[in-house]
Amino acid sequence: MHFQWYPGHMTKAKRAMQEDIRLIDVVVELVDARIPYSSKNPDIESLAQGKSRVILLNKKDMADSNVTKQWQDYYEKKGYLTLAVNARQKQDLKQVNSLIQKACEEKILRDRKRGIINRPVRAMIVGIPNVGKSTFINSFAGKSCVKTGNKPGVTKGKQWIRLNKQVELLDTPGILWPKFEDQKVGQHLAFIGSIRDERIQSVDLGLDLIEFLEKEHVGILEKHYQIEEKEDSVEVLNDLAIRRGCIQKGQTPNLDKAAFLLLDDFRNARLGKISIETPSDGKEGQDETGPGN
Ligand code: G4P
Repeated sequence: MHFQWYPGHMTKAKRAMQEDIRLIDVVVELVDARIPYSSKNPDIESLAQGKSRVILLNKKDMADSNVTKQWQDYYEKKGYLTLAVNARQKQDLKQVNSLIQKACEEKILRDRKRGIINRPVRAMIVGIPNVGKSTFINSFAGKSCVKTGNKPGVTKGKQWIRLNKQVELLDTPGILWPKFEDQKVGQHLAFIGSIRDERIQSVDLGLDLIEFLEKEHVGILEKHYQIEEKEDSVEVLNDLAIRRGCIQKGQTPNLDKAAFLLLDDFRNARLGKISIETPSDGKEGQDETGPGN
């Protein structure tokens, strides 16, 4: 199956991001814990050069916690500070504040030496679409936070959310784009439902998912659907349709419906917490240097 990308406003987004990044001290990048490689934009390395860096592996509730830990180790070796979070859960986000400050330790010390005391560090959330940026900002900032800037009488500019005396957050996240040229990336984003495009045929995607699951998670289809795992993915989807009563006119299996059902189960973690990518897949690391390298 071929995934076609439409970069659209990429250049405009990149320019906006460059402008915003000049104003901040630390880039907090959200990736999807199930597909950190595919949900990470490699251009952020050059865009965020010289800034402190934090990676949050979001949607940890849907990923395999052992694999997420491997990813954290992987990124920490590259010089990032990391945390696995569920942006829907405020509880999880308590540590993010101290992580941001830790990432900016050097800057705070430098400021102090220059006699600048208690200047809050400024942070910005970035990530590709659907990774959870808005959810994160809402949960993290909450209602009690004071918004600064863009008030009547105040010079028009960026809106900052004052989280506490030490940290301010830019209230609009930076939207990054995925790695357009990589077909595997397209497939993985489609598996988790991040590309919602009618051009992506659900039957084809369902067949790809069956192949992935049979290779990487042997037995999972058998366990959840009581169907035999066979080499021919079409046969498997056929069996799944029959097993789940996806039958159309003429009493033939409705593969579209079966594929939709499988994808929906997978995307909602009903097949379990499954990480699609691991740092040892081999691809990871090829295009990413990280702030420590
Ligand atoms: P974005 O700004 O980066 O584009 O992403 P957004 O916050 O809109 O989040 C995309 C979807 O991911 C939302 O679901 C959101 O609730 C969900 N989400 C964000 N963080 C987490 C997380 O840590 N765990 C889980 N399980 N889901 C998360 P939605 O279905 O589009 O909307 P809704 O269910 O919130 O109505």
